[in-house]
Amino acid sequence: MNQLRATRVCLFDAYGTLFDVHSAVACLRPRMDQQADQLSALWRQKQLEYTWLRSLMQDYVDFEVVTADALDYALERFPQPDSAALRGALLDAYTTLSAYAEVAGTLATLKSRGWRTGILSNGTQCWLDAAVDGSALRDVLDDIVTVESLRCFKPTPSVYQLGCDRMGVDASEVCFLSSNAWDVAGAAQFGYRSVWINRAGQPAERLGAQAVTQISTLDQLPDLLPTLDTA
Ligand code: LAC
Repeated sequence: MNQLRATRVCLFDAYGTLFDVHSAVACLRPRMDQQADQLSALWRQKQLEYTWLRSLMQDYVDFEVVTADALDYALERFPQPDSAALRGALLDAYTTLSAYAEVAGTLATLKSRGWRTGILSNGTQCWLDAAVDGSALRDVLDDIVTVESLRCFKPTPSVYQLGCDRMGVDASEVCFLSSNAWDVAGAAQFGYRSVWINRAGQPAERLGAQAVTQISTLDQLPDLLPTLDTA
């Protein structure tokens, strides 16, 4: 017997999924040298590593601190013409990262079709509120759920449980969307139906739990969702 309940809720990862983490460097590229893209990639990689490591070490600091620490590492590896001033400008830019082009339209379509929508993110409420308002997404989201009350980061299972608790649904009723393959695996392991937004055509992670499917951009989601309950 199929124990899965029909999906009713879409929960979205924020950074890399709704918001382009490389848009901060893109804004400030005129002040940076030819290593700007390498700096941006290392900044993101270190940010993620620090979330995983701090969860394992049980040494939580919030996502804003993690992001600043990761930027300091990246700026030491790829020093810029005026790293001290650039540091502040990059962190400011991170509070209003650009949403991907298809995000607002996709969320509006989901709402018009009766789906409940939320963010489930490692970020802070302050930064997520700024990003959501900066891209005018407030009206197409029912909730913004952050890890701050738990003091640990994804893929710790309690984070995904918090998403269920806040939306008032079982895990099997949630469709979770992330462009981060490790996050998709963590969410699938927890029991969400997970869809990988594989924007860059990356290979699948070699972790136990898998996405139910993958798409390359979020605008493919509204027509995909009705098919998931029978998958
Ligand atoms: C987030 C990170 C993982 O938004 O992208 O939770």
